[in-house]
Amino acid sequence: MITIQQLSDKLLRAEYAVRGPIVIRAQELEAQGRKIIYCNIGNPQALKQPPLTFMRQILSLVEYPELLTKAQELYPKDVVERARDILTKNPSGTGAYTQSAGIPFIRKAVADFIANRDGIPANPANVILTDGASKGAQAVLTALLRSPKDGFMIPIPQYPLYSASLTLYGGEQIGYYLDEENGWQLNETILTQSLNQAKSKGINPVGLVVINPGNPTGAVLSQENIAMIIKFARQHKLALIADEVYQENVYATDREFHSFAKVMHALGDTDTPLFSLHSVSKGFLGECGHRGGYLEMRNIPENVLAEFIKLQSISLCANVPGQLVTYLMVAPPKPGDASHELYVRERDSILRDLKEKATLLGQGIQQVPGMFVDIPQGAMYAFVRFELPHKPGVDPTQMSADQREKYEAERDNAYCLALLEETGICVVPGSGFGQRAGTLHFRTTFLPPRDEMEDLVKHLGGFHVRYVEKLRSSAS
Ligand SMILES: Cc1ncc(COP(=O)(O)O)c(C=O)c1O
Repeated sequence: MITIQQLSDKLLRAEYAVRGPIVIRAQELEAQGRKIIYCNIGNPQALKQPPLTFMRQILSLVEYPELLTKAQELYPKDVVERARDILTKNPSGTGAYTQSAGIPFIRKAVADFIANRDGIPANPANVILTDGASKGAQAVLTALLRSPKDGFMIPIPQYPLYSASLTLYGGEQIGYYLDEENGWQLNETILTQSLNQAKSKGINPVGLVVINPGNPTGAVLSQENIAMIIKFARQHKLALIADEVYQENVYATDREFHSFAKVMHALGDTDTPLFSLHSVSKGFLGECGHRGGYLEMRNIPENVLAEFIKLQSISLCANVPGQLVTYLMVAPPKPGDASHELYVRERDSILRDLKEKATLLGQGIQQVPGMFVDIPQGAMYAFVRFELPHKPGVDPTQMSADQREKYEAERDNAYCLALLEETGICVVPGSGFGQRAGTLHFRTTFLPPRDEMEDLVKHLGGFHVRYVEKLRSSAS
């Protein structure tokens, strides 16, 4: 039998908190009959968000074209026409490999989507269809890491895809703190400090990852902030990864999604490499299981582009239903199409519900003494800060950085585990995303149905107060 010692050390060191031990314990409790409110992962349809009818109708026809004749009676006219059109343009159907970069008409539809969204030129040749945004991000890390001393700047807190993939591929993580006091925007001084610190340790920074809207922060970056980031990347010759999977998830009325591509175009930057990611998993689609998405590249010469396509060809192509869902995401029904009205109704209902739940969660948590959070501006998460007393004689400021990180990780893990055991609420400890020394957080989604979100808000406060009291009394 193979032993764990025979496995790659890189794999053993990679950590992915979103599906970590707390979630495993939640599944055990559920198997014993406990009701669990899963707030650990941005997986909307697992939490009862319905799929859009338009998507599923078309998928059913392209997966089983025999249905087309019957579908005339069942489905709206534009659905049948669209399915026929897809089958004409991709006659080999969903069971055949496609070109490595993806089905050409879908790459063109993605470029048109970007051009319309941003009012800028977009080239289908620079679009690669991927199995979710995860594979796009991993392609960029794979291609740009030339030595173990090469590093990517990644946010703290961050979505662990980036830290785990850097460990897996053998690159350095150059963490930069997001500015919690300033709505989790990026801060140029902090970026410069972390870049210089990395260089002083012999690390060679090659890229900068930005997640906007943010996971786990729920923040939406301002246009000025994005412009600052692009100028910073240009000055320090860093490639940019703009993870924009939550671009449809903006709830704050004073915020708007600005793509890095648009801001870069406005700045006239024709030099800084930009890798933008989008996905069918988030927004109002929530089609996580279909594993669709795209990577769009700017300021990339043709020979580099060819290497990215070669990389994609090593795993042949992205899955075809995922490519098709990506197509339907970027080319939804138009006004006047028979499906348009229902599509708009379903889309708006999902986004309205998310917005209401973001407010419910943010306002509810703000009432709890010792818990701090802004109402999430976007995405699907809140990164909640909470305060706990220390045992007498324990002073974390006297610990080494490593000791302190371990101590704080134990505290937020113990807290989230106790929350789960006591209330059935499953959230992810902040240490899984990274947090400033001296602070504790957890990340929760606001995806569960409204009644569960109401329960969550109700139970969270009571739990926190009891937990703090217990720590205090065990200390005295
Ligand atoms: C910021 C961010 N990027 C990428 C992904 C991965 O998305 P996909 O399902 O498209 O691989 C997620 C998933 O939660 C995410 O939060």
